[in-house]
Amino acid sequence: MAEIVGFGGYVPDRVMTNDDWASLVDTTDEWITVRTGIKTRRFASEDQSTLDLAEHAARRAIADADLQATDIDEIILATDTSEVVTPDTASFLQHRLGAREIPAFDLGGSGCAGFVQALDVARARILLQPKRVLVVGVELIMRLVSWKERETAVLFGDGAGAVVMAPDGGRARVIHAVAGTDGSKAEILTLPVGGTRHPFNADVAATEAHRRLVMNGREVFREAVTRMSSSVLRLLEEAGKSITDVALVIPHQANKRIIDAVGSRLGLDESRVYVNVDRYGNTGSASVPLALWEAEAEGRIAPGDLVVLTAFGAGFHWASAALQF
Ligand code: ACO
Repeated sequence: MAEIVGFGGYVPDRVMTNDDWASLVDTTDEWITVRTGIKTRRFASEDQSTLDLAEHAARRAIADADLQATDIDEIILATDTSEVVTPDTASFLQHRLGAREIPAFDLGGSGCAGFVQALDVARARILLQPKRVLVVGVELIMRLVSWKERETAVLFGDGAGAVVMAPDGGRARVIHAVAGTDGSKAEILTLPVGGTRHPFNADVAATEAHRRLVMNGREVFREAVTRMSSSVLRLLEEAGKSITDVALVIPHQANKRIIDAVGSRLGLDESRVYVNVDRYGNTGSASVPLALWEAEAEGRIAPGDLVVLTAFGAGFHWASAALQF
């Protein structure tokens, strides 16, 4: 079996409001609120990097599991905003936490679906060989994307979430997970400059092209709604459950309208769909574990509850997981 034995999360202290954005780009609190449901988001301070955010969430999850860092047997970290280009952030985290010389690796580039994919990988690895796996989702998006592009800048925030998984003794069992990819949609959400196809050079630096996130907002919106709702239904069918068995759905927090559309497609009233996008914006791979950590801490989840996680991300990727508390 694969169970979650500890939950953790972290958001930086600095709060950025919609009015703060309106003082920087041509936007308004009303536009952002109506189109996205976002009111505030958190930004890392200048002396923080991705590793710092990951460390806070990881230490909380390890403490919540009543464990020490030396008890962890493997680290899987999901991010699109890595500490350095290479090596991966998991290497730095292994050392920072004082963990043993265990396997540690990143799952990068899956956008906001990264954490749920990583949870599925951790589950499979635990079923293969009993071990304790630290799974982290972390993003420091605002360091890497342009602050001048109003279409994208106002959507995001920084944060981290983590869980510790083990073969038994947990508060939630991961009973099933599903995932999928449609690479034909890679261009609808991409940071295309800075890789091998369009390497970083002086022209790029001058135009800041490496910070320009290219997004077809409407198509991302459509895909997000379709893929999250269909993957939840597939997940439940394969797990032998139905939507009426679900106490709470925790969707990727990209946009309140996307969350509402998924809820209504699944026939769920608002009380069964978790929302914190209003406070944190879209925190990428951190969004689902952060929401899971908060939902548990707020008492939104009771023993016996079936909780469904669902996410979508650049790729186009999607993933869902069923947790039996
Ligand atoms: N402030 C004011 N006006 C803006 C802003 C802004 N911040 N951004 C865009 N606009 C303007 C546009 O220029 C456009 O103006 P025009 O009509 O004069 O051309 C107008 O607002 C409407 O733009 P639309 O794109 O039609 O607005 P829409 O209702 O589609 O909302 C949004 C845009 C919020 C981006 C929506 O499409 C969306 O949420 N899409 C999904 C985005 C998303 O989830 N991205 C995921 C990121 S990463 C991830 O989670 C995997």
